[in-house]
Amino acid sequence: MVRKATITIDGKTVELPILEGSFGPAAIDVRSLYQETGMFCYDPGFMSTASCSSGITYIDGDKGVLLYRGYPVDELVEKCDFLDVAYLLFYGELPNAQEKEEFEKSVTQHTMVHEQLRSFFQGFRRDAHPMAIMVGVVGALSAFYHDNLDIYDPKQRETAFHRIIAKMPTIAAMAYNYSRGCPLPYPQNDLTYAQNFLKMMFGLPSEKYQINPIVAKAMDIIFILHADHEQNASTSTVRLAGSSKANPFACIASGIAALWGPAHGGANEAVLKMLEQIGSVENIPAFINRAKDKKDTFRLMGFGHRVYKNYDPRARIMRKACHDVLDQLGIQDPLLDIALKLEEIALKDQYFIDNKLYPNVDFYSGLVFRALNIPTSMFTVIFSVARTVGWIAHWNEMMADPGQKIGRPRQLYTGSVLRHL
Ligand code: SDX
Repeated sequence: MVRKATITIDGKTVELPILEGSFGPAAIDVRSLYQETGMFCYDPGFMSTASCSSGITYIDGDKGVLLYRGYPVDELVEKCDFLDVAYLLFYGELPNAQEKEEFEKSVTQHTMVHEQLRSFFQGFRRDAHPMAIMVGVVGALSAFYHDNLDIYDPKQRETAFHRIIAKMPTIAAMAYNYSRGCPLPYPQNDLTYAQNFLKMMFGLPSEKYQINPIVAKAMDIIFILHADHEQNASTSTVRLAGSSKANPFACIASGIAALWGPAHGGANEAVLKMLEQIGSVENIPAFINRAKDKKDTFRLMGFGHRVYKNYDPRARIMRKACHDVLDQLGIQDPLLDIALKLEEIALKDQYFIDNKLYPNVDFYSGLVFRALNIPTSMFTVIFSVARTVGWIAHWNEMMADPGQKIGRPRQLYTGSVLRHL
Protein backbone atom coordinates (compact mmCIF):
# COMPACT_ATOMS: atom_id res chain seq x y z
CA MET A 1 0.00 0.00 0.00
CA VAL A 2 1.51 3.34 -1.12
CA ARG A 3 1.70 5.86 1.71
CA LYS A 4 0.42 9.32 0.79
CA ALA A 5 1.28 12.85 1.89
CA THR A 6 -1.45 15.46 1.74
CA ILE A 7 -0.90 19.19 1.34
CA THR A 8 -3.72 21.66 1.72
CA ILE A 9 -3.45 25.11 0.11
CA ASP A 10 -6.28 27.63 0.34
CA GLY A 11 -8.69 24.85 1.26
CA LYS A 12 -7.66 22.59 -1.65
CA THR A 13 -6.05 19.29 -0.62
CA VAL A 14 -3.56 17.52 -2.88
CA GLU A 15 -2.43 13.93 -2.32
CA LEU A 16 1.19 13.10 -3.12
CA PRO A 17 2.57 9.53 -3.15
CA ILE A 18 5.45 8.66 -0.81
CA LEU A 19 8.33 6.78 -2.46
CA GLU A 20 10.10 4.22 -0.26
CA GLY A 21 13.83 3.40 -0.71
CA SER A 22 15.68 0.21 0.31
CA PHE A 23 16.29 2.03 3.58
CA GLY A 24 16.92 5.60 4.73
CA PRO A 25 14.52 8.53 4.37
CA ALA A 26 11.46 8.06 2.16
CA ALA A 27 10.65 10.79 -0.38
CA ILE A 28 7.44 12.66 -1.14
CA ASP A 29 6.93 12.52 -4.91
CA VAL A 30 6.27 16.19 -5.77
CA ARG A 31 6.56 15.81 -9.54
CA SER A 32 2.84 16.67 -9.94
CA LEU A 33 2.86 19.51 -7.38
CA TYR A 34 3.19 22.39 -9.85
CA GLN A 35 0.56 20.93 -12.15
CA GLU A 36 -1.86 20.40 -9.23
CA THR A 37 -1.16 23.57 -7.21
CA GLY A 38 0.62 26.03 -9.51
CA MET A 39 3.34 26.21 -6.85
CA PHE A 40 6.97 25.05 -6.67
CA CYS A 41 8.93 23.54 -3.78
CA TYR A 42 11.63 25.92 -2.55
CA ASP A 43 14.94 24.30 -1.49
CA PRO A 44 17.97 26.20 -2.89
CA GLY A 45 20.59 24.17 -0.98
CA PHE A 46 18.75 20.88 -1.59
CA MET A 47 18.57 20.46 2.20
CA SER A 48 15.38 18.37 1.90
CA THR A 49 15.45 17.37 -1.75
CA ALA A 50 16.20 14.02 -3.37
CA SER A 51 17.33 14.92 -6.90
CA CYS A 52 17.17 11.34 -8.13
CA SER A 53 16.92 7.74 -7.05
CA SER A 54 20.20 5.82 -6.96
CA GLY A 55 21.51 2.42 -5.89
CA ILE A 56 25.21 3.28 -5.85
CA THR A 57 26.09 4.77 -2.44
CA TYR A 58 24.26 5.27 0.82
CA ILE A 59 25.24 7.53 3.72
CA ASP A 60 23.67 7.31 7.17
CA GLY A 61 24.61 10.77 8.43
CA ASP A 62 23.41 10.20 12.00
CA LYS A 63 25.28 6.93 12.44
CA GLY A 64 28.32 7.96 10.38
CA VAL A 65 27.99 5.04 7.96
CA LEU A 66 29.05 4.96 4.28
CA LEU A 67 28.05 2.04 2.03
CA TYR A 68 29.24 1.47 -1.54
CA ARG A 69 26.60 -0.80 -3.16
CA GLY A 70 25.73 -1.96 0.38
CA TYR A 71 29.29 -2.73 1.53
CA PRO A 72 30.69 -0.62 4.45
CA VAL A 73 33.61 1.44 3.18
CA ASP A 74 35.88 0.25 6.01
CA GLU A 75 35.44 -3.38 4.89
CA LEU A 76 36.25 -2.44 1.29
CA VAL A 77 39.39 -0.60 2.42
CA GLU A 78 40.39 -3.72 4.37
CA LYS A 79 39.73 -6.35 1.71
CA CYS A 80 39.76 -4.67 -1.73
CA ASP A 81 41.78 -2.36 -3.92
CA PHE A 82 40.63 0.71 -5.81
CA LEU A 83 39.87 -1.08 -9.08
CA ASP A 84 37.71 -3.62 -7.19
CA VAL A 85 35.76 -0.64 -5.80
CA ALA A 86 35.57 1.07 -9.20
CA TYR A 87 34.15 -2.13 -10.68
CA LEU A 88 31.67 -2.43 -7.78
CA LEU A 89 30.44 1.14 -8.09
CA PHE A 90 29.92 0.92 -11.86
CA TYR A 91 28.63 -2.65 -12.28
CA GLY A 92 26.97 -3.14 -8.86
CA GLU A 93 28.93 -6.23 -7.76
CA LEU A 94 32.55 -6.93 -6.83
CA PRO A 95 34.47 -8.64 -9.64
CA ASN A 96 35.46 -12.31 -9.48
CA ALA A 97 39.08 -13.15 -10.30
CA GLN A 98 38.50 -13.39 -14.06
CA GLU A 99 36.35 -10.23 -14.18
CA LYS A 100 39.00 -8.34 -12.21
CA GLU A 101 41.78 -9.51 -14.53
CA GLU A 102 39.83 -8.47 -17.65
CA PHE A 103 38.81 -5.14 -16.11
CA GLU A 104 42.35 -4.33 -14.95
CA LYS A 105 43.69 -5.23 -18.44
CA SER A 106 41.14 -3.02 -20.18
CA VAL A 107 41.70 -0.04 -17.90
CA THR A 108 45.47 -0.42 -18.18
CA GLN A 109 45.26 -0.36 -21.97
CA HIS A 110 43.53 3.03 -21.83
CA THR A 111 46.03 4.76 -19.53
CA MET A 112 47.81 6.66 -22.30
CA VAL A 113 46.36 9.88 -23.71
CA HIS A 114 46.34 10.97 -27.36
CA GLU A 115 49.80 12.38 -28.11
CA GLN A 116 48.23 15.63 -29.32
CA LEU A 117 46.61 16.14 -25.91
CA ARG A 118 50.08 16.66 -24.49
CA SER A 119 50.34 19.96 -26.34
CA PHE A 120 47.32 21.33 -24.46
CA PHE A 121 49.53 21.79 -21.40
CA GLN A 122 51.75 24.32 -23.18
CA GLY A 123 48.94 26.86 -23.06
CA PHE A 124 49.02 27.02 -19.26
CA ARG A 125 51.40 29.13 -17.18
CA ARG A 126 53.80 26.89 -15.26
CA ASP A 127 52.30 28.20 -12.00
CA ALA A 128 48.71 27.47 -13.05
CA HIS A 129 46.78 25.64 -10.31
CA PRO A 130 46.67 21.98 -11.43
CA MET A 131 42.90 21.96 -10.97
CA ALA A 132 42.67 24.62 -13.68
CA ILE A 133 44.70 22.33 -15.91
CA MET A 134 42.49 19.35 -15.07
CA VAL A 135 39.31 21.22 -15.95
CA GLY A 136 40.81 22.30 -19.27
CA VAL A 137 42.54 19.12 -20.34
CA VAL A 138 39.79 16.71 -19.26
CA GLY A 139 37.24 18.90 -21.00
CA ALA A 140 39.46 18.75 -24.09
CA LEU A 141 39.37 14.94 -23.95
CA SER A 142 35.80 15.24 -25.21
CA ALA A 143 37.20 16.61 -28.48
CA PHE A 144 38.89 13.26 -29.06
CA TYR A 145 35.80 11.13 -28.45
CA HIS A 146 32.82 13.42 -29.05
CA ASP A 147 31.70 12.09 -32.43
CA ASN A 148 32.04 8.35 -31.96
CA LEU A 149 30.31 8.07 -28.61
CA ASP A 150 26.73 6.82 -28.54
CA ILE A 151 25.72 7.60 -24.94
CA TYR A 152 22.60 5.44 -25.34
CA ASP A 153 24.69 2.34 -26.01
CA PRO A 154 25.60 0.60 -22.70
CA LYS A 155 28.76 -0.89 -24.26
CA GLN A 156 29.98 2.54 -25.36
CA ARG A 157 29.19 3.98 -21.92
CA GLU A 158 31.24 1.14 -20.43
CA THR A 159 34.16 1.97 -22.73
CA ALA A 160 33.91 5.63 -21.70
CA PHE A 161 34.08 4.46 -18.06
CA HIS A 162 37.23 2.42 -18.66
CA ARG A 163 38.80 5.22 -20.71
CA ILE A 164 38.19 8.10 -18.31
CA ILE A 165 39.21 6.32 -15.09
CA ALA A 166 42.34 5.10 -16.87
CA LYS A 167 43.33 8.53 -18.17
CA MET A 168 42.64 10.64 -15.10
CA PRO A 169 45.80 9.56 -13.20
CA THR A 170 47.89 10.15 -16.32
CA ILE A 171 46.47 13.65 -16.84
CA ALA A 172 46.83 14.45 -13.13
CA ALA A 173 50.48 13.38 -13.10
CA MET A 174 51.07 15.32 -16.33
CA ALA A 175 49.58 18.44 -14.70
CA TYR A 176 51.91 18.04 -11.72
CA ASN A 177 55.00 17.48 -13.83
CA TYR A 178 54.11 20.38 -16.14
CA SER A 179 53.88 22.67 -13.09
CA ARG A 180 57.38 21.68 -11.98
CA GLY A 181 58.96 21.85 -15.41
CA CYS A 182 59.53 18.10 -15.71
CA PRO A 183 58.81 15.94 -18.77
CA LEU A 184 55.18 14.85 -19.09
CA PRO A 185 55.14 11.21 -17.94
CA TYR A 186 53.89 8.06 -19.66
CA PRO A 187 52.16 5.23 -17.76
CA GLN A 188 53.93 1.96 -17.04
CA ASN A 189 51.34 -0.74 -17.42
CA ASP A 190 52.89 -3.53 -15.40
CA LEU A 191 52.15 -1.50 -12.25
CA THR A 192 48.92 -1.34 -10.24
CA TYR A 193 46.66 1.70 -10.55
CA ALA A 194 48.09 3.39 -7.44
CA GLN A 195 51.69 2.41 -8.22
CA ASN A 196 51.36 3.68 -11.81
CA PHE A 197 50.02 7.00 -10.56
CA LEU A 198 52.85 7.43 -8.05
CA LYS A 199 55.48 6.55 -10.64
CA MET A 200 54.01 9.03 -13.13
CA MET A 201 53.89 11.66 -10.38
CA PHE A 202 57.39 11.30 -8.97
CA GLY A 203 59.38 9.17 -11.42
CA LEU A 204 61.90 10.85 -13.72
CA PRO A 205 63.13 9.50 -17.07
CA SER A 206 66.69 9.83 -15.77
CA GLU A 207 66.23 7.60 -12.72
CA LYS A 208 64.72 4.23 -11.78
CA TYR A 209 61.64 4.86 -9.60
CA GLN A 210 61.39 2.67 -6.52
CA ILE A 211 57.77 1.91 -5.51
CA ASN A 212 57.30 2.26 -1.73
CA PRO A 213 54.59 -0.31 -0.80
CA ILE A 214 53.51 1.75 2.23
CA VAL A 215 52.97 4.81 0.06
CA ALA A 216 51.22 2.79 -2.66
CA LYS A 217 48.86 1.20 -0.12
CA ALA A 218 48.06 4.60 1.42
CA MET A 219 47.37 5.99 -2.07
CA ASP A 220 45.01 3.10 -2.81
CA ILE A 221 43.12 3.72 0.46
CA ILE A 222 42.83 7.43 -0.39
CA PHE A 223 41.39 6.54 -3.81
CA ILE A 224 38.83 4.16 -2.25
CA LEU A 225 37.71 6.66 0.40
CA HIS A 226 37.18 9.42 -2.16
CA ALA A 227 35.50 7.27 -4.84
CA ASP A 228 31.86 8.21 -4.29
CA HIS A 229 29.51 10.00 -1.91
CA GLU A 230 25.88 10.10 -3.09
CA GLN A 231 24.64 13.37 -4.65
CA ASN A 232 27.36 15.76 -3.42
CA ALA A 233 27.83 19.04 -5.25
CA SER A 234 30.21 17.72 -7.92
CA THR A 235 28.27 14.50 -8.57
CA SER A 236 25.05 16.51 -8.88
CA THR A 237 26.88 18.76 -11.35
CA VAL A 238 27.91 15.76 -13.44
CA ARG A 239 24.33 14.45 -13.42
CA LEU A 240 22.94 17.81 -14.47
CA ALA A 241 25.49 18.16 -17.28
CA GLY A 242 24.80 14.58 -18.36
CA SER A 243 21.05 15.18 -18.37
CA SER A 244 21.54 17.51 -21.35
CA LYS A 245 23.15 14.55 -23.17
CA ALA A 246 26.60 16.15 -23.06
CA ASN A 247 29.40 13.64 -23.65
CA PRO A 248 30.82 12.02 -20.47
CA PHE A 249 34.23 13.71 -20.73
CA ALA A 250 32.60 17.14 -20.72
CA CYS A 251 30.45 16.01 -17.77
CA ILE A 252 33.52 14.89 -15.81
CA ALA A 253 35.16 18.25 -16.53
CA SER A 254 32.10 19.96 -15.00
CA GLY A 255 32.46 17.74 -11.92
CA ILE A 256 36.13 18.71 -11.57
CA ALA A 257 35.16 22.38 -11.67
CA ALA A 258 32.52 21.91 -8.96
CA LEU A 259 34.84 19.84 -6.76
CA TRP A 260 37.50 22.59 -6.72
CA GLY A 261 35.66 24.85 -4.25
CA PRO A 262 37.00 24.96 -0.66
CA ALA A 263 33.53 24.13 0.67
CA HIS A 264 33.78 20.83 -1.21
CA GLY A 265 36.79 18.98 -2.55
CA GLY A 266 39.08 21.99 -2.12
CA ALA A 267 38.76 21.63 1.65
CA ASN A 268 41.74 19.26 1.97
CA GLU A 269 44.04 21.94 0.58
CA ALA A 270 42.30 24.51 2.82
CA VAL A 271 42.82 22.32 5.93
CA LEU A 272 46.60 22.26 5.41
CA LYS A 273 46.67 26.01 4.92
CA MET A 274 44.55 26.41 8.08
CA LEU A 275 46.84 24.18 10.16
CA GLU A 276 49.87 26.12 8.91
CA GLN A 277 48.03 29.38 9.72
CA ILE A 278 47.28 28.14 13.26
CA GLY A 279 50.96 27.31 13.55
CA SER A 280 50.99 26.05 17.13
CA VAL A 281 48.75 24.30 19.65
CA GLU A 282 48.68 27.50 21.75
CA ASN A 283 46.88 29.35 18.92
CA ILE A 284 44.04 26.84 18.63
CA PRO A 285 41.54 28.51 21.03
CA ALA A 286 41.71 31.79 19.07
CA PHE A 287 40.88 29.99 15.82
CA ILE A 288 38.07 28.00 17.45
CA ASN A 289 36.58 31.31 18.60
CA ARG A 290 36.90 32.74 15.09
CA ALA A 291 35.12 29.66 13.68
CA LYS A 292 32.23 30.32 16.09
CA ASP A 293 32.03 34.05 15.38
CA LYS A 294 29.18 34.69 12.92
CA LYS A 295 30.78 37.95 11.90
CA ASP A 296 33.97 36.14 10.92
CA THR A 297 33.97 34.23 7.62
CA PHE A 298 36.60 31.84 9.01
CA ARG A 299 35.38 28.27 9.27
CA LEU A 300 37.16 25.24 10.64
CA MET A 301 38.12 23.59 7.37
CA GLY A 302 37.72 19.82 7.41
CA PHE A 303 34.89 20.10 9.93
CA GLY A 304 31.17 19.82 9.34
CA HIS A 305 29.17 18.12 6.64
CA ARG A 306 25.76 18.47 5.03
CA VAL A 307 24.92 14.83 5.66
CA TYR A 308 27.23 13.54 8.41
CA LYS A 309 26.02 14.71 11.79
CA ASN A 310 28.45 12.25 13.32
CA TYR A 311 32.07 11.36 12.69
CA ASP A 312 32.70 10.88 8.92
CA PRO A 313 33.74 7.20 8.69
CA ARG A 314 36.30 8.19 6.06
CA ALA A 315 37.91 10.62 8.50
CA ARG A 316 38.29 7.82 11.02
CA ILE A 317 40.03 5.60 8.45
CA MET A 318 42.11 8.50 7.16
CA ARG A 319 43.18 9.36 10.72
CA LYS A 320 44.46 5.78 11.22
CA ALA A 321 46.16 5.85 7.82
CA CYS A 322 47.82 9.11 8.83
CA HIS A 323 49.28 7.60 11.99
CA ASP A 324 50.31 4.40 10.15
CA VAL A 325 52.01 6.20 7.26
CA LEU A 326 53.85 8.69 9.48
CA ASP A 327 54.98 5.89 11.84
CA GLN A 328 56.03 3.58 9.00
CA LEU A 329 57.86 6.35 7.18
CA GLY A 330 59.36 7.65 10.43
CA ILE A 331 57.94 11.16 9.93
CA GLN A 332 57.20 13.58 12.77
CA ASP A 333 54.72 16.17 11.45
CA PRO A 334 53.98 19.03 13.86
CA LEU A 335 50.82 19.78 11.88
CA LEU A 336 49.45 16.38 12.95
CA ASP A 337 49.90 17.38 16.59
CA ILE A 338 47.96 20.58 15.89
CA ALA A 339 45.23 18.64 14.03
CA LEU A 340 44.82 16.11 16.86
CA LYS A 341 44.63 18.85 19.50
CA LEU A 342 42.26 20.92 17.35
CA GLU A 343 39.96 17.91 16.95
CA GLU A 344 40.07 17.17 20.69
CA ILE A 345 39.17 20.76 21.64
CA ALA A 346 36.51 21.21 18.94
CA LEU A 347 34.71 17.95 19.77
CA LYS A 348 34.30 19.14 23.37
CA ASP A 349 33.12 22.62 22.41
CA GLN A 350 29.38 23.22 22.84
CA TYR A 351 29.09 25.12 19.54
CA PHE A 352 30.48 22.15 17.60
CA ILE A 353 28.38 19.74 19.63
CA ASP A 354 25.20 21.76 19.07
CA ASN A 355 25.89 22.11 15.32
CA LYS A 356 26.98 18.44 15.09
CA LEU A 357 30.27 19.45 13.52
CA TYR A 358 32.73 16.56 13.26
CA PRO A 359 35.90 16.03 11.23
CA ASN A 360 35.13 15.08 7.63
CA VAL A 361 37.22 13.20 5.06
CA ASP A 362 39.29 16.31 4.34
CA PHE A 363 40.50 16.88 7.88
CA TYR A 364 43.22 14.24 7.84
CA SER A 365 43.65 13.55 4.13
CA GLY A 366 45.92 16.54 3.63
CA LEU A 367 48.29 15.26 6.32
CA VAL A 368 48.50 11.89 4.59
CA PHE A 369 49.15 13.60 1.27
CA ARG A 370 51.92 15.62 2.93
CA ALA A 371 53.50 12.44 4.26
CA LEU A 372 53.43 11.05 0.70
CA ASN A 373 55.20 14.20 -0.55
CA ILE A 374 52.12 15.25 -2.53
CA PRO A 375 52.14 19.05 -2.92
CA THR A 376 49.12 20.89 -1.46
CA SER A 377 47.96 22.08 -4.89
CA MET A 378 47.56 18.44 -5.96
CA PHE A 379 45.28 17.36 -3.08
CA THR A 380 42.01 18.16 -4.84
CA VAL A 381 43.38 16.83 -8.12
CA ILE A 382 43.81 13.45 -6.45
CA PHE A 383 40.32 13.74 -5.01
CA SER A 384 39.06 14.29 -8.60
CA VAL A 385 40.95 11.22 -9.87
CA ALA A 386 39.20 9.04 -7.29
CA ARG A 387 35.78 10.70 -7.57
CA THR A 388 35.77 10.23 -11.33
CA VAL A 389 34.72 6.64 -10.59
CA GLY A 390 31.66 7.84 -8.69
CA TRP A 391 30.88 10.55 -11.23
CA ILE A 392 30.89 8.16 -14.18
CA ALA A 393 28.94 5.51 -12.23
CA HIS A 394 26.20 8.07 -11.51
CA TRP A 395 26.31 9.32 -15.11
CA ASN A 396 25.88 5.76 -16.35
CA GLU A 397 23.06 5.05 -13.89
CA MET A 398 21.25 8.17 -15.06
CA MET A 399 21.77 7.47 -18.79
CA ALA A 400 20.50 3.90 -18.33
CA ASP A 401 17.21 5.23 -16.93
CA PRO A 402 14.63 5.23 -19.76
CA GLY A 403 12.66 7.89 -17.87
CA GLN A 404 15.66 10.23 -17.65
CA LYS A 405 14.77 13.88 -18.35
CA ILE A 406 16.91 17.00 -18.65
CA GLY A 407 17.39 18.63 -15.25
CA ARG A 408 15.75 22.05 -15.35
CA PRO A 409 14.95 23.54 -11.89
CA ARG A 410 12.41 26.38 -11.61
CA GLN A 411 12.74 29.44 -9.31
CA LEU A 412 10.97 31.78 -6.95
CA TYR A 413 11.06 34.99 -9.00
CA THR A 414 11.81 38.07 -6.90
CA GLY A 415 12.76 40.51 -9.66
CA SER A 416 10.92 43.44 -11.26
CA VAL A 417 7.28 43.08 -12.28
CA LEU A 418 6.42 43.75 -15.94
CA ARG A 419 7.45 47.24 -17.02
CA HIS A 420 7.86 49.02 -20.36
CA LEU A 421 10.55 51.22 -21.87
C1 SDX B 1 33.34 17.39 1.15
O1 SDX B 1 28.58 16.60 0.08
C2 SDX B 1 29.54 15.75 0.23
O2 SDX B 1 29.32 14.58 0.40
C3 SDX B 1 30.95 16.35 0.17
C4 SDX B 1 32.09 15.37 0.44
C5 SDX B 1 32.18 14.33 -0.66
O3 SDX B 1 32.80 13.30 -0.42
O4 SDX B 1 31.74 14.64 -1.81
O5 SDX B 1 31.90 14.74 1.69
C6 SDX B 1 33.43 16.10 0.45
O6 SDX B 1 33.10 18.38 0.52
C7 SDX B 1 33.47 17.42 2.66
C8 SDX B 1 33.20 18.84 3.26
C9 SDX B 1 34.49 19.67 3.05
N1 SDX B 1 34.28 21.06 3.40
C10 SDX B 1 34.81 21.61 4.50
O7 SDX B 1 35.44 20.97 5.36
C11 SDX B 1 34.62 23.12 4.62
C12 SDX B 1 34.18 23.46 6.04
N2 SDX B 1 32.82 22.95 6.26
C13 SDX B 1 31.71 23.88 6.04
O8 SDX B 1 31.94 24.78 4.98
C14 SDX B 1 30.36 23.19 6.06
O9 SDX B 1 30.34 22.37 7.16
C15 SDX B 1 29.91 22.38 4.86
C16 SDX B 1 29.97 23.18 3.60
C17 SDX B 1 30.74 21.17 4.72
C18 SDX B 1 28.46 21.95 5.13
O10 SDX B 1 27.72 23.07 5.10
P1 SDX B 1 26.13 23.01 5.39
O11 SDX B 1 25.60 21.64 5.42
O12 SDX B 1 25.48 23.97 4.45
O13 SDX B 1 26.02 23.47 6.87
P2 SDX B 1 25.84 24.93 7.27
O14 SDX B 1 26.81 25.77 6.53
O15 SDX B 1 24.40 25.29 7.17
O16 SDX B 1 26.31 24.85 8.79
C19 SDX B 1 25.36 24.66 9.81
C20 SDX B 1 25.87 25.55 10.92
C21 SDX B 1 26.06 26.99 10.43
O17 SDX B 1 25.77 27.79 11.54
P3 SDX B 1 24.55 28.83 11.35
O18 SDX B 1 24.97 29.77 10.26
O19 SDX B 1 23.33 27.99 10.94
O20 SDX B 1 24.42 29.47 12.70
O21 SDX B 1 27.17 25.11 11.34
C22 SDX B 1 28.14 26.15 11.08
C23 SDX B 1 27.53 27.12 10.10
O22 SDX B 1 27.99 28.42 10.34
N3 SDX B 1 29.30 25.50 10.48
C24 SDX B 1 30.56 25.74 10.80
C25 SDX B 1 31.31 24.86 10.02
N4 SDX B 1 30.51 24.14 9.24
C26 SDX B 1 29.26 24.55 9.52
N5 SDX B 1 31.10 26.60 11.69
C27 SDX B 1 32.44 26.58 11.76
N6 SDX B 1 33.25 25.76 11.05
C28 SDX B 1 32.72 24.88 10.18
N7 SDX B 1 33.51 24.07 9.47
